[in-house]
Amino acid sequence: TCSIYLSRHGQSEYNSHGKIGGDSGLTPMGEAYAQKLAEFADRVITRDPENGEARPVRLWTSSLQRTKLTARHLKHDKVKTGGGKDWIQMAPRVLRNLDEIYAGVCDGMTYEEIRAAYPREYELRRQNKLSYRYPRGESYLDVIARLDPLVQELESYREDVLIVGHQGVLRLIYAYFAGLDRDEAATLSIPLNTVIKLTPRTHDCIEERVLLHD
Ligand code: F6P
Repeated sequence: TCSIYLSRHGQSEYNSHGKIGGDSGLTPMGEAYAQKLAEFADRVITRDPENGEARPVRLWTSSLQRTKLTARHLKHDKVKTGGGKDWIQMAPRVLRNLDEIYAGVCDGMTYEEIRAAYPREYELRRQNKLSYRYPRGESYLDVIARLDPLVQELESYREDVLIVGHQGVLRLIYAYFAGLDRDEAATLSIPLNTVIKLTPRTHDCIEERVLLHD
């Protein structure tokens, strides 16, 4: 891969209420971000910086509404590639393995509600977020396992990739390419309204961040 662009979905209804998980749609702010992301992709991500020509970029989303809605304004026209083959720009690939960490019995709750209803669970998670598994849900280690084949694929690509994902999965992908420990990964903050561009090199990784919306 050349560069990997990471973006969370635009603000979801659940985000705005502090609820985790679910499959809600976007708030007006989330929708505004979706439009800015499309504009940024058209102007920057899909352009060769030297000659401004369109260059092929892949697009991955999760299977949840909020990432698909965030990606839906991205243009997917045909683009000529070096080999003369037609490339469908940003043809969305929907990957369930990119879905957000599943919180099981806590899905749809706020952190306050979880603390009140399941104080022991709340404490266990606080003590070891990486290996903690939500009852009937997932741990970060579970998510690392299902992301592994995707990371392998990313490493084999020759085109840039835009991933519209979720805080939990993106922090793991980020940590992998930025060379951070797993323990650090689980507590990283991946902000909304921001595109993170990672360009892995042999011994390090170049990082740029662009805030697209306040
Ligand atoms: O709050 C948004 C969200 O994507 C939730 O759906 C998810 O459970 C959470 O972030 C993951 O963050 P943390 O592991 O820090 O609770």
